[in-house]
Amino acid sequence: MHEPRLLWLHNKTSIRNYTVAGVSIAVAVGIARWPEAHLESAPVSLLLCAVMLSAWLGGVGPGVLAAALSAAAFAYYFVNPLLSLAVAERETPRFVIFVLAAVLVGSLSAAQRRSMQSLRKAEQALRETQASLAHVTRVMTMGELAASIAHEVNQPLAGVVINGNACLRWLAGESPNLAEAREAAQRIIRDGTRASEIISRIRALAKKTSTLTERVDLNEAIREVLALCRGEARKHDVGLRAQVPGDLPPVRGDRVLIQQVVLNLVLNGIEAMSDVQDRPREMVIQAQGDADRVRVTVRDSGIGLDPPAMERIFDALYTTKPGGLGMGLSISRTIVENHGGRLSVVAQDGPGATFDFTLPAYR
Ligand SMILES: Nc1ncnc2c1ncn2[C@@H]1O[C@H](COP(=O)(O)OP(=O)(O)O)[C@@H](O)[C@H]1O
Ligand SMILES: [Mg+2]
Repeated sequence: MHEPRLLWLHNKTSIRNYTVAGVSIAVAVGIARWPEAHLESAPVSLLLCAVMLSAWLGGVGPGVLAAALSAAAFAYYFVNPLLSLAVAERETPRFVIFVLAAVLVGSLSAAQRRSMQSLRKAEQALRETQASLAHVTRVMTMGELAASIAHEVNQPLAGVVINGNACLRWLAGESPNLAEAREAAQRIIRDGTRASEIISRIRALAKKTSTLTERVDLNEAIREVLALCRGEARKHDVGLRAQVPGDLPPVRGDRVLIQQVVLNLVLNGIEAMSDVQDRPREMVIQAQGDADRVRVTVRDSGIGLDPPAMERIFDALYTTKPGGLGMGLSISRTIVENHGGRLSVVAQDGPGATFDFTLPAYR
């Protein structure tokens, strides 16, 4: 279905490119022969411009056509004998130099076009690689979280089994207690819903994403991430606190990628606090917004960062953890910058580290 259409499109652009070659040479000749312009004696620059334009827009083929047409036009209109394709012997050097210049200009222009195209392709490939890397690290992070998430899901499922048994007991015997049975059934529904919510959050986070322009309710997005991290926080005895106003303006971006940034920052904070013994392990996620942007701050009371470390933490592969990848912050920074925001580490009074990122408000 698609191929004939692509072929047609391709043909259409090449017809356009060859037409440009013909038309631009005709225009150049027209201007050069326009009596008021007095360019009859110096048409070269105009013709070369036409060759350059054709090679730039269309590449080698149209460039060659333009060079050939310009050589013919030059011989016909501007080289003795005039109005003939023949070239007088005395004029041969002038003609040869023109042809060489046209070929040189055309091939330079075509080469520049080629390198610009390959640069564009490389940029596109880089963007795609970054996107798949972001996806891979997100899935790996989910893998690290698997044990605590499994625990989170298991709890409501155990509740379902216990309440199911209770429900059966209330229904058994001569005079079933319907009121109690109904309550047990309601608890089953509550727990089942909780488990399925956790699973759908995981599925959403494991998804591949593409658009950076959807409307994202940051309040809800942050809450979902915190729900997934709750088990990990409990395991490390960390208190997670969110101070996110209910009327936070929505932001523009990709919900899953933004959640990945929050997830990376929260997990880094939890990890930084896991060895702290002499103070409470506390993590605070704050958000505040104005008309233009929303700022999210993630603060922990962990081991903190010394100035040399601060310089390097956003570098790819920089890690101080035995099992670390060193990709979390580097990918988070790319994600935030691709959204038009900034991610930075900010100086903080007292122990721990504070990270801060902005995202554009959705309008
Ligand atoms: N909240 C934090 N407190 C202290 N150090 C941190 C914090 N977040 C990140 N770091 C430092 O930055 C490094 C890079 O982090 P990251 O890019 O997420 O990779 P990884 O977590 O795999 O090491 C960490 O190894 C750690 O040394
Ligand atoms: Mg990390």
